[in-house]
Amino acid sequence: MTVMEDLLQGKLVRLSGIDPEELGKSFSRWNRDSEFKRLLDFDPARLHSTKATREWMEKHMEAEKDTFWFSIRTLEDDHLLGDIDLSVINWGSRDSFVGLGIGERDFWGKGYGTDAMKLVLRYAFLELNLRRVTLNVFEYNGRAIRSYEKAGFRLEGRQRQVIQREGRRWDIIYMGILSEEWMENYGNRNSDR
Ligand SMILES: CC(C)(COP(=O)(O)OP(=O)(O)OC[C@H]1O[C@@H](n2cnc3c(N)ncnc32)[C@H](O)[C@@H]1OP(=O)(O)O)[C@@H](O)C(=O)NCCC(=O)NCCS
Repeated sequence: MTVMEDLLQGKLVRLSGIDPEELGKSFSRWNRDSEFKRLLDFDPARLHSTKATREWMEKHMEAEKDTFWFSIRTLEDDHLLGDIDLSVINWGSRDSFVGLGIGERDFWGKGYGTDAMKLVLRYAFLELNLRRVTLNVFEYNGRAIRSYEKAGFRLEGRQRQVIQREGRRWDIIYMGILSEEWMENYGNRNSDR
């Protein structure tokens, strides 16, 4: 009898380690998609070489020891889709922050990102025994907000008019999930993960 499920495998994707060479190559391609960039972060959309992207990754992975870095791959054919990173902000309070990006836009809106987020939450609550996971998302990213709600996050607050894009200002939305909320919905081994 299997006592423990495979933590890193979901319904559509699995989480794997990051190979900076491989992810650097994909990321420099994904970053040429300005919509992806503008959904993901504040930085003005700008282009980086594969080498610069790889070096950035290596530097951060070396320096940020409290971050758990994963790439996201399809179960069907092991295709690299994006990455998801869980940073423990404070081990004493067991608080953490998550960031997610599916770079392959043909895979947006098909459940892959939500599946990856569910896996990271399982990892956060069952493996690291964290107490809460936080994220933020731009107001204009309706797909991400809906995906995070499906994974169990709740709206916790908003910082008004932080970001200016497309000639208007937008809020940043904060969402979070507590371990007991996750346990209630997904902690049961027989429940839908
Ligand atoms: C955001 C992201 C992780 C979501 O993962 P995903 O696999 O695409 O999400 P899903 O397909 O599981 O769910 C998307 C949901 O949003 C809904 N949706 C799509 N566009 C929407 C919009 N503009 N407004 C509101 N809801 C929207 C879909 O109908 C679906 O909900 P449903 O299942 O109830 O019908 C992924 O699309 C992604 O990485 N996008 C690019 C980068 C990015 O935005 N990163 C997040 C930064 S915070």
